[in-house]
Amino acid sequence: MKDLSPRPDELDPIETASRDEITALQTERMKWSLAHAYANSPFYRAKFDAAGVHPDDFRTLADLARFPFTEKGDLRDNYPFGMFAVPREQIVRIHASSGTTGKPTVVGYTRNDIEMWSDLVARSIRASGGRAGDIVHVAYGYGLFTGGLGAHYGAERLGCTVVPISGGMTERQVMLIEDFRPRVIMVTPSYMLSILDEFRRQGLDPRASSLEVGIFGAEPWTNAMRHEIEQAFDMHAVDIYGLSEVMGPGVANECVETKDGLHIWEDHFYPEIIDPVTGAPLPDGEKGELVFTTLTKEGLPIIRYRTRDLSRLLPGSARSMRRMEKITGRSDDMIILRGVNVFPTQIEEQILKCAGLAPHFVIELTREGRMDRMTVRVECHPDAGGDEARAASTRELAQHIKNVVGVSAEVDVCTPGGVERSLGKARRVVDNRPKE
Ligand code: DLL
Repeated sequence: MKDLSPRPDELDPIETASRDEITALQTERMKWSLAHAYANSPFYRAKFDAAGVHPDDFRTLADLARFPFTEKGDLRDNYPFGMFAVPREQIVRIHASSGTTGKPTVVGYTRNDIEMWSDLVARSIRASGGRAGDIVHVAYGYGLFTGGLGAHYGAERLGCTVVPISGGMTERQVMLIEDFRPRVIMVTPSYMLSILDEFRRQGLDPRASSLEVGIFGAEPWTNAMRHEIEQAFDMHAVDIYGLSEVMGPGVANECVETKDGLHIWEDHFYPEIIDPVTGAPLPDGEKGELVFTTLTKEGLPIIRYRTRDLSRLLPGSARSMRRMEKITGRSDDMIILRGVNVFPTQIEEQILKCAGLAPHFVIELTREGRMDRMTVRVECHPDAGGDEARAASTRELAQHIKNVVGVSAEVDVCTPGGVERSLGKARRVVDNRPKE
């Protein structure tokens, strides 16, 4: 794979600024954001008043811990437009994420917010190895989901030629990759695997494709999966993170030259890690729940938003801004099996160790009597022969899960295509346990 490191003069000055400069900018912008939220959002005014804090109490970044958290439920309670801090007429775009139950979570952007978002996705694509002039194939879903349009505006901002194909119609995805010869693809990692299958089904060599950079996010994925995709396509696979409540894709992104965690674009988002149980802020390096405060957003400023995503903060490397470690999973997706915490990413890692298996899997939870059971349904590799090979893979995976993750799981190895494909975010856990 080619060395795609950027030249220093290609970067935004803030990407290489000193920590002191970044802290000064964050402090300044945080004052503005807290004051804006308090002055213009009845929701935040009531919340700050109830907690006995006022924007004037904020002097240094450590003071942020005195302010209350915002949670997904707050957006639901204020459905649809109650969280906006500008008159509705100044909102030029709405996005929403579909909740598992009931009403979606709605977010809104002013024209300046869209500008800022486009700039940060452009920065993210550049960090991933994309450049002006590239053809960018955007297979994130377009619509209320932030993935498609977020990627689209960023790629245009960088000066790329965008192919807004959205998700689905996998055969056509492959045809357009072959015909348009994009250098960059933006898609969920699980859907990239479906595209990979389709390349092979059509008898095409994915390593011979034009793709040099894949920018993958919207769901947890592991370094083992990175390796799998990089080998299959002979391309760089880079991680992009974001969430609609904070902005959308491009809150943080890996750098192609290091691939050592995602640099948080700290000039616009202030990260914290908290203890998910007590809510206490944790020092950098410790694992916990990610919390973000927006520093510049007008339409929907968000103060100390609890993401439920688990990670830790690391010092800058390829850029001065701090990194977040690749996400282990969401606290909501954590499976507690007979007292052991299990994340789907841990299962993914073990599957990728087994040569006879393909990385398409789903975890099913059931209850027998008072015992919870976990079944990992996974496809055998298309090239893996016969029943005997499947039986061997079954034993091998069960053994890895037992040894490394520390739980006993049933393993069900099915034929290729036996696990439902996602067109966007993969659903990794199906919980069939009776509701308490
Ligand atoms: O998934 C935004 C996005 C689109 C990010 C395209 C990257 C690429 P939501 O639908 O609001 O927004 O879902 C946000 O997805 O809290 C994480 O749990 C998960 N997530 C997003 N990116 C990553 C990632 C978009 N790189 C939720 N790794 C977040 C792990 C991710 N999880």
